[in-house]
Amino acid sequence: MRGDALSGEDRELLAAAHAVRLHAHAPYSRFRVGAALRTAEGAVIVGCNVENVVLGETVCAEKSAIVGGVSQGHQRFQVVAIVTDHRPAASPCGSCRQMLFTWGVERVILANLSGEVEVWSLADLLPRSFVLELP
Ligand code: THU
Repeated sequence: MRGDALSGEDRELLAAAHAVRLHAHAPYSRFRVGAALRTAEGAVIVGCNVENVVLGETVCAEKSAIVGGVSQGHQRFQVVAIVTDHRPAASPCGSCRQMLFTWGVERVILANLSGEVEVWSLADLLPRSFVLELP
């Protein structure tokens, strides 16, 4: 689908993901990722991938957004928009899927610089996710 088929709120989230992608620090992979989360209260929280010379220390854009949002006091997120320059639009890694699930995300909007947009449910991307009921 194309982005203009999205709601105004989703288009706003996508625009935020596009903008933050330009802040990505990706000198090793040269693969920039922008992520924007919408909280239950309607706030928009952004994150980008941040690579490190110790490659294993790289932080994905989705995790960067969640950690930033939680640090700002948010506890639940509903939607994430993820933008890359990849065709087809790139989907989050397994680790980020679990993290998005844990923090409440239900809808995932994937987009690329060619204007392609896909909307997924997180349950389809991560069936039978890990859940731990704390005592
Ligand atoms: N990356 C993300 O930011 N999110 C993902 O879900 C997968 C991968 C980043 C990590 C690294 O900086 C680059 O993309 C290439 O793997």
